[in-house]
Formats: sequence, structure tokens, C-alpha cells
Amino acid sequence: MDVSMLSLLAKTTSMMEYLGFLWVVQTGLELNLWAEMETARSLKELMIIHPEWDEILLDHWLEQAHYMELLTKKNDFFQATKLAKAINKYRSLGLEALYKELVEHWAIGFAELPRLITKQRAKLTLEKDMEEELIAKASIASEPFVWPYLRSKCQKEQWKSVLDLGCGEGRYLKILGSEFSDLCGVGIEMNPAVAERAQEKVKEHDGRIRILCQDIFSLVYQQKDSLLELGNFDLCLLNNSIYYFTQEQRIQLLGSIREFLKPGGQVGILTAVRKGSPVRVFRTHLPQNLMSFFLACHQGFEGLPTTEEIRSLLLQTGYDDVDMAVMPLGTSHYFFARKTDECQETSR
Ligand SMILES: C[S@@+](CC[C@H](N)C(=O)[O-])C[C@H]1O[C@@H](n2cnc3c(N)ncnc32)[C@H](O)[C@@H]1O
Repeated sequence: MDVSMLSLLAKTTSMMEYLGFLWVVQTGLELNLWAEMETARSLKELMIIHPEWDEILLDHWLEQAHYMELLTKKNDFFQATKLAKAINKYRSLGLEALYKELVEHWAIGFAELPRLITKQRAKLTLEKDMEEELIAKASIASEPFVWPYLRSKCQKEQWKSVLDLGCGEGRYLKILGSEFSDLCGVGIEMNPAVAERAQEKVKEHDGRIRILCQDIFSLVYQQKDSLLELGNFDLCLLNNSIYYFTQEQRIQLLGSIREFLKPGGQVGILTAVRKGSPVRVFRTHLPQNLMSFFLACHQGFEGLPTTEEIRSLLLQTGYDDVDMAVMPLGTSHYFFARKTDECQETSR
């Protein structure tokens, strides 16, 4: 057989394996089977618990999960492996939202690619559940890597007031508030359903952390005074939200944020980045570039920035001392930069 045909077949079968993993994990999450399978159970027992379910399909699910080393099998009894237990343990840390996003949105969105590229159809719009749930929840998946870095940075820089633009569920403000008892924060989130969950999360901080349900742009441009009344900030975070803005909006926003920062104040941009050329050994750029591709299929989104774009954006909009840290696994990048000294600027 032609070698290229052979390699194509090999790629195709491994792709099917990955897709199978995605579907099996997502189904287990949705039907809460990972929790149920922490106890060893046979198909018969499962059917007694769920008499209305399709026995043939459940049998196939158990078999696939077993092949994928997510379930062990002893006689007729299946039980969750360590990997499956981790799925259940970390489901609320972004994992469940991420799998749902991949299965229910990415597949359908990418199926439209030929018509999108040839402009035979309008760009996609984000579905309601993506806007209200999945995007904000899935971004929590990077928190275990990001938080230790942000915490040590906060300790070193002694930030006392933080503005979080596009704060989502308010997780970072919540943990910053818990770790640093003298830290105050304001989170801005435009989606009412997400802002409400954020509000709920930070209420234990007795008013030290506030959430405003507002569009960043209306606040920064039309209601600037009400934001200035909240005081100036040591740090302004744009965590996993920069990709919501066009290049022009990014320039305007970063320029305007300077006004709300104290002298020497900093801006922190957490984002996955699009990589220029493929890295052959650890192919960590693949999912990021695919995410960028998926975002760009939607109205108002231009995809993820590259590291060079963020660097030059910061320098261009009045920041210096740019520092970039690559988070473990190489997906998220954290950029910090300091507001340029006004005197330094006028003397240029
Ligand atoms: C991917 S989530 C990230 C949430 C959080 N910062 C994190 O890292 O976990 C981005 C959030 O930004 C919000 N957002 C996007 N554009 C916004 C705007 N113009 N004003 C306010 N919030 C915005 C979205 O609704 C979404 O909840």
C-alpha cells in the first residue's frame, strides 16, 4: 500500500479514538455515570437503576469506557479507574463545560467551515448557553496553573486594589479576596446570568469585592466618572477576555485603562495565544490554534492574539516593563506590564 495512504489511515483511526474519548467522557458527565461507576456495577444493575435507558447503548458505552481505560472490568462488573475518578472530581473546575462546548458547539461550528470560508453564510453567533455558561465556566480549567503564579505575583507586588474586566464567575477576585484580607476588588461582567453567579461567589467578602453587571466599553467611555469614583487600581486584569475584542477595541481599551490605574499600576492579560510556526515536539499549539479558528468563525471575534501582538499592543498603548510567563502545559500565557510614568511619556 502507498505509504501516504497508510499514514492517512493511521491518522484517521487515531482521530476516531480521540473523538470516541470525547463522546464517552461527555456522555458520562451528562448522565452522571462517572459518579455512579465509583461503585462496581454490572450492566444488569445499571438497568435496574435506570429501567428507561437503552440497554444496548449503555452496554456499548461501558465497553468503550473500558477500552479507553476509564473503567476496569472484573467478571461482569465495571468500576471507575483513577482517570475516571479525576473526571468526576474536576468536573466543576471547567472540565464539564469544556467537554460540552467541544461536543455541542465546536463540531457543529466547524461543519459550517466550507460555507464560512467561501462567505456563503454569515458568521456564526454564540449560542445562549455558550454565552451564559460554557465560556465562563470552561475558562476555570486554567485556574489550577494560573492561581499559584497570580498569588505569588500579588504577594511580591503588594496589590491592594484590583479591577477585573470580564471577570466571568469572579473566581480570581474571590480567591484573591480570600488569600489577601486587605485586598479590595471590582469585577465587571456584561452577562447578567454570569454576573449573578459571580455576585454569589464574592458575597462572603462583605463588600470588599464588588461585581458590576456592565459592558466594559459603556463603563470606560460613557460612565467613566462612576468608575473613577471607585478609586484608582493597582492592577487591572483581563483574564481570558482579550479575545472578545477586535484589535481596534484592544488598543482603545488598554489606552483607557491607564486612567483607572495608580502611578506604577499594572495590567495583567491572561490568554491562550495563537502560535506562528508549528512546534514539532510538544504540539501544545494545536488546541490553541484550533480554539482561535473556532472563535474566528463567530461574529465579532478575530481569534486569539499572538505573543508578539500582545507585546506590541502593550508598548503601543502606554505600558512598559512587559513580562510574559507561560503557564504549565503551555496553553495560557500571562502578560504583565506597568503603566508608563507620565513624566517619562511627556519627555519623549
Ligand atoms: C472567557 S470568560 C473569562 C472569565 C474570567 N475572567 C476567567 O478567566 O475565568 C470572559 C468573560 O468576559 C465577559 N465579557 C466579554 N466582553 C465583555 C464586555 N465588553 N464587558 C463585560 N464583560 C465582557 C464575557 O461575558 C465572559 O463571561
